[in-house]
Amino acid sequence: MKIRPLTGVLGAEISDVDVREPSSFKEIHRAFVKYGVIAIRDQSVTPEEQIRFAQKFGEININKFFTPHPDYPEISLIIKEPQQRMAIGESWHTDHSYDVVPCMASMLHTIEAPEVGGDTGFSSMSSAFGALSESMKNFLRGLSAHHSNDHVFGYTAKKQYETHQDGRVLNSELAVHHVIHPVVIKHPLSGKECLYVNKDFTTHVEELSEAESESLLQFLYRHASDIRFTCRLRHAPGTITIWDNQSTWHTSINDYDGYRRIMHRIVIKGSPIQSSLPR
Ligand SMILES: [Fe+2]
Repeated sequence: MKIRPLTGVLGAEISDVDVREPSSFKEIHRAFVKYGVIAIRDQSVTPEEQIRFAQKFGEININKFFTPHPDYPEISLIIKEPQQRMAIGESWHTDHSYDVVPCMASMLHTIEAPEVGGDTGFSSMSSAFGALSESMKNFLRGLSAHHSNDHVFGYTAKKQYETHQDGRVLNSELAVHHVIHPVVIKHPLSGKECLYVNKDFTTHVEELSEAESESLLQFLYRHASDIRFTCRLRHAPGTITIWDNQSTWHTSINDYDGYRRIMHRIVIKGSPIQSSLPR
C-alpha cells in the first residue's frame, strides 16, 4: 500500500491496495485518523462490497434526505446531471452536526466524474484551531453552539433550492433536528482539539448576543477556510474517499456544469461529542 500525503495539514492518497482485502483495513484506518481525509484510488467494488468496507469503520447511518440507491438503502445517490446548476453541499460544512450524536465519517465512491472539475475541498479543524491565539482558544473552549438542519433540508429550504425542487433532497418534514454542541471538541480518536462549528448547520453561539455570535462565527468561517488549512481532492471513477467529520470541513466545488457526476455515499455513525474542557 502506498500513502502519499496531499499537504502538510490533511489529506492523503492511497494506492496499490484493495479495500476488499481484510488485512488492508488496519493501515487504511490509521491513515484515516492521521490525515482526516483519504482517497483510495482504483477500487472496483460493487455496492455490497462498498457497504461491507464501510461497516469496518462502524455502523451505517441511513440518510433521510438524499435519494436512496434503489436496491441498497445504506447508499445515497449524490448526482448532478449536466443540466442541473446546484450541487449538493456547496458551502463548507461537516455532515450531520445537527444530530445529537453526529456521524463519524462519510464515504463517497465515485461512479462517474466530470473530465475536469467536481473536486471536493477539505479543511483541517485541528490545524485551524491550533493557529488561533491562546486567548481566543480559551474564549472558544467555554462556548457552545446551536446546530440545526431545518434551514438546509426543511420547508424554507424547499422553496429556495433547486436540489429540493428537482427531487435530489427529500423528506423536508423530517428536518427538525436542533442540538447544542461545544464550539471546541476533543477528537475521540486522536485526542486533538478541533473547532466544531460550520457555516451550513451552526445557527448561533449559546452564550453570546446575536450580534456577537454572528461576528464570531463569520470570523471563524473565514479563519478556518484559509487555504493553509485545506487540501483539494480530485475524484475519478473507482476512487473511494473517506473523511472524518469531527476533524474536517468539506465543500463540493461546483465548477462542472454540463457534466454528470455520480457518487455512492455512505455515512458512518459516531460516538457522542466530547468537549475539550476537562470534565
Ligand atoms: Fe457533506
